[in-house]
Amino acid sequence: MTPMKCARIVGVGAYVPDRVIKNDDLKQWMETSDEWIVQRTGIKERHWVKPEQSTSDLALEASLAALKSAGLDKSKIDLIIFATLSPDHVFPGSGCYLQSKLGIPEIPALDIRQQCSGFLYGLSIADQFIRTGMYKNVLLVGAEVHSKGLDLSTKGRDVSVLFGDGAGAVVLSATEVTDPAKQSFIWNTRLHADGAHAEELWAAAPGTGMPSGNWLDEQMVAEGKHFPQMNGKRVFTSAVRRMSESLTATLKECKVTVADVDLFLFHQANLRINEAVADQLQIPREKVFNTIQHYGNTTAATIPLGMRDAVAKGVLKPGMLVGLAAFGSGFTWSSALLRF
Ligand SMILES: CC(C)(COP(=O)(O)OP(=O)(O)OC[C@H]1O[C@@H](n2cnc3c(N)ncnc32)[C@H](O)[C@@H]1OP(=O)(O)O)[C@@H](O)C(=O)NCCC(=O)NCCS
Repeated sequence: MTPMKCARIVGVGAYVPDRVIKNDDLKQWMETSDEWIVQRTGIKERHWVKPEQSTSDLALEASLAALKSAGLDKSKIDLIIFATLSPDHVFPGSGCYLQSKLGIPEIPALDIRQQCSGFLYGLSIADQFIRTGMYKNVLLVGAEVHSKGLDLSTKGRDVSVLFGDGAGAVVLSATEVTDPAKQSFIWNTRLHADGAHAEELWAAAPGTGMPSGNWLDEQMVAEGKHFPQMNGKRVFTSAVRRMSESLTATLKECKVTVADVDLFLFHQANLRINEAVADQLQIPREKVFNTIQHYGNTTAATIPLGMRDAVAKGVLKPGMLVGLAAFGSGFTWSSALLRF
């Protein structure tokens, strides 16, 4: 076939901070139990940063690991895409901090705020830029520091037990594809959103949408408006439905079946969500690689973190066909198919 300009993943890296917080450790702040958390979510532990560590610090470690795995010098990167909902500061974007820490001045740095779908939105953006020929090597990072922004009291326990800190990164490079059955490339990406459900999973403040007319004030802080709030059951059922729908559409568009796909990497919000998606699509459970047990939900970082671990364990190998899906605040959801 005529060569087709595509993007492919050439390097994967990740980083989690050293401090491990087991479910039982959370009992010093809130009423909860290991049994409740494991039964409802599958999570056993998560990692939290030290006070001085920021989101871009985690992203830097993941990026350096991804560049090393790609065997690519950082000077070859011509775009940074940084997906996060927990930036270093309100502005500028964390991509600018990462660019400076990497020491690659002047290249564009784009922050995207698609929460748990952030990595797949970023993958799609990187893919489009590479397919058009505008950029050749894109560094895509998903990184989060949740631990500094959670309500650790019993009032916030439904949310705070779920989240962990971490970062994952991939390097995407341009490639000419002549044999899609063998070559590594991003085959398909699908992006969706439905803002009607924005407040089912959100942090209200700081923000210009606050009716008091202030961006942030003492009352908002006293009321915990700066902490994430969630309608857990609504998020759960929507995640199962939307991830299943989107992934089904991706497979159909590429004319491949579940049996053709070697591995599925889903966003890690709740082990039961991923099991329900697998069951709906009749995906054998052993084809779904989950990491939530050890990291909790690291939002934009879950998928690249899973990729890094799957590669390290020999579960993800070059040439494999991989199905991806994610769902999160917005609501936003997305899916992708790639040959690794
Ligand atoms: C949060 C979630 C695990 C809760 O599970 P659930 O099955 O809806 O909760 P249940 O109805 O079984 O339990 C609720 C009870 O547990 C309590 N509870 C909530 N969090 C708890 C915790 N950490 N420890 C102990 N008890 C807790 C509640 O107070 C409530 O008690 P009550 O019945 O006395 O009022 C689940 O809704 C979920 O995972 N939703 C999706 C979340 C998500 O994925 N978010 C990120 C999306 S990207």
